[in-house]
Amino acid sequence: MTGSDFGHAGDILLLNGPNLAQLGTRKPEVYGTTTLAEIEKRVAEFLGTHGYRLTCVQSEDEGDLVRAVHRASEHAAAIVNPGALMMAGWSLRDALEMFEGPWIEVHLSNVWARESFRHTSVLSPLATGVICGLRAEGYLLAARALVDLLATQR
Ligand code: DQA
Repeated sequence: MTGSDFGHAGDILLLNGPNLAQLGTRKPEVYGTTTLAEIEKRVAEFLGTHGYRLTCVQSEDEGDLVRAVHRASEHAAAIVNPGALMMAGWSLRDALEMFEGPWIEVHLSNVWARESFRHTSVLSPLATGVICGLRAEGYLLAARALVDLLATQR
């Protein structure tokens, strides 16, 4: 996503890290069959009914994700699936530390039921909440939680 279409103050950011553009065909027994485009559409539709616009960013590169968080500094909230950057994405972690709104870390799979190297997240201690193991539904639950949280902040 570039330039003027990046979004505006008060919007919600949906950030997806490496390998998440492959959803739909990537290990469907682990991640389900829903594509990232479908997830983005469903979350945008849900948020639209609550008066929020969604800015969607996916990248294989941590620097792109860091820049997206910087550019979204005036967004109201964020949903973040860092992919494998959960384990060692220190610069993404530091960027999110500067993000002032609530943000929720989402993992489609239950990382706790998987390999032990997935049992660490450098982001989780900063997140408002963490949702994992509910596949694509997790993004929608995160969106719903953020709408409720933002309503209490008004
Ligand atoms: C993931 C879990 C991570 O461990 C993995 O590296 C991913 C996807 C998930 O959504 O379940 O890329 O974030």
